Amino acid sequence: MAVERVLTRNVGRAGSRTVKVYRESGGYEALAKALRLQPEEVVEEVKKSALRGRGGAGFPCGLKWSFVPRGTDKPKYIVCNADESEPGTFKDRLLMEHDPQQLIEGCVIAGWAVGANTTYIYIRGEYRFAARVLEEAIREAYDHGILGDSVLGSGFRHDVYVHRGAGAYICGEETGMLESLEGKRGQPRVKPPFPAVVGAFGCPTVINNVETLCCVPHIVLRGADWFRSIGPDERNTGPKLYAISGHVERPGTYEYPIGVTFQELLDGCGGMYKGRRLKAFIPGGASAPMLRAEDREIRMDFDTLAKAGSMLGSAAVIVMDETTCVVRAALRLAKFFAHESCGQCTPCREGTNWMELILHRIESGHGTEADLDLLARVVPNVGGISLCALGDAAQGPVRSLIEKFGDEIRDNLRAGRYPLPRVPYFDLGAVA
Ligand SMILES: Cc1cc2nc3c(=O)[nH]c(=O)nc-3n(C[C@H](O)[C@H](O)[C@H](O)COP(=O)(O)O)c2cc1C
Repeated sequence: MAVERVLTRNVGRAGSRTVKVYRESGGYEALAKALRLQPEEVVEEVKKSALRGRGGAGFPCGLKWSFVPRGTDKPKYIVCNADESEPGTFKDRLLMEHDPQQLIEGCVIAGWAVGANTTYIYIRGEYRFAARVLEEAIREAYDHGILGDSVLGSGFRHDVYVHRGAGAYICGEETGMLESLEGKRGQPRVKPPFPAVVGAFGCPTVINNVETLCCVPHIVLRGADWFRSIGPDERNTGPKLYAISGHVERPGTYEYPIGVTFQELLDGCGGMYKGRRLKAFIPGGASAPMLRAEDREIRMDFDTLAKAGSMLGSAAVIVMDETTCVVRAALRLAKFFAHESCGQCTPCREGTNWMELILHRIESGHGTEADLDLLARVVPNVGGISLCALGDAAQGPVRSLIEKFGDEIRDNLRAGRYPLPRVPYFDLGAVA
């Protein structure tokens, strides 16, 4: 499948982090164009492009920008969500490490569009290298008059700061992130008010994912109609990065038009590891309910996956072959959510723990069918009633485990097969 690389066009080019090479590929032309437009026109163009947030929820980006009040004398902020803590997700890392200028351009255009003079890039603590690359790229952008008192000589001021997190999943949730940015414990806030009105330091704030902001310069430069021409329909538009991991021959981050099928993704990364059979896949990061092998022709976009009972989420695709114990896989994810729940809301704090405990009992060979029934009763009580969506996220994989693999688990329980044998993830072969 021939695909134009848009977001990753500079990946692999020598000097791709520098202003010089970025400019050679048309970089910062969009910023110059945006500064010649009225801010409202930029917002309109992004709205028209139908760009949906790439951080997980798929909220329309232009619409979010239009919620920021105009005519307030409060400062406004752009906060770029570079926390990327969703297990399986590593697409933003590629964008930051290889083409940081693209992200800076997106941040400044967003700032111009909503009237914000400051961007904070909130980056997960473990991304030390990406943070260093960004710091260096920001320094260079100041040297070239792209950042600072007068962006490209326009008189518009914009500053960008990198803020490193300390490695907590909850700080990827937008209001937990704002708390952390303000120096407090990262715990989600009550919404409303939404950050567009009351965000960082009590001021209007746009929060967007790295990939979302990286789409913006291309929309401004090539137009909303071009962006809308990519993808299956008017609600799912633009180029998309998919981070593929698990039992495939060549894991990695791949760019496709949004709505590529899972099978096309699989073919593009060399197929199943050692030609084994596909058993299940998670289409959108740890929070996304699992799908089965027979869903392999599904289109990987927001609406198709939602209709199938899963979600595109962060588009982190985790592939599991026939050797996988799906209970063990779900247990691993349940452990993650139980560990990362901030503890503020009872259903999430207690429920994630219970899901882990019951799955552990089944997986370790101490469970009965009654445990599966108990799990099915616990799951609906974990999400939907907390301040943030972590509880909902934790439900997803477990709910799908019961729905899609319930019969298989019952068979295994009756036959006393748990724990299933562990198959080494990689066959290290000649590596002694
Ligand atoms: C528990 C939790 C973790 C999240 N982690 C991330 C993350 O690491 N990166 C991200 O961009 N969005 C994350 N989100 C989504 C953000 O809250 C928010 O919707 C997103 O940053 C908005 O940007 P977008 O509209 O550009 O997608 C998370 C949400 C939840 C509930």
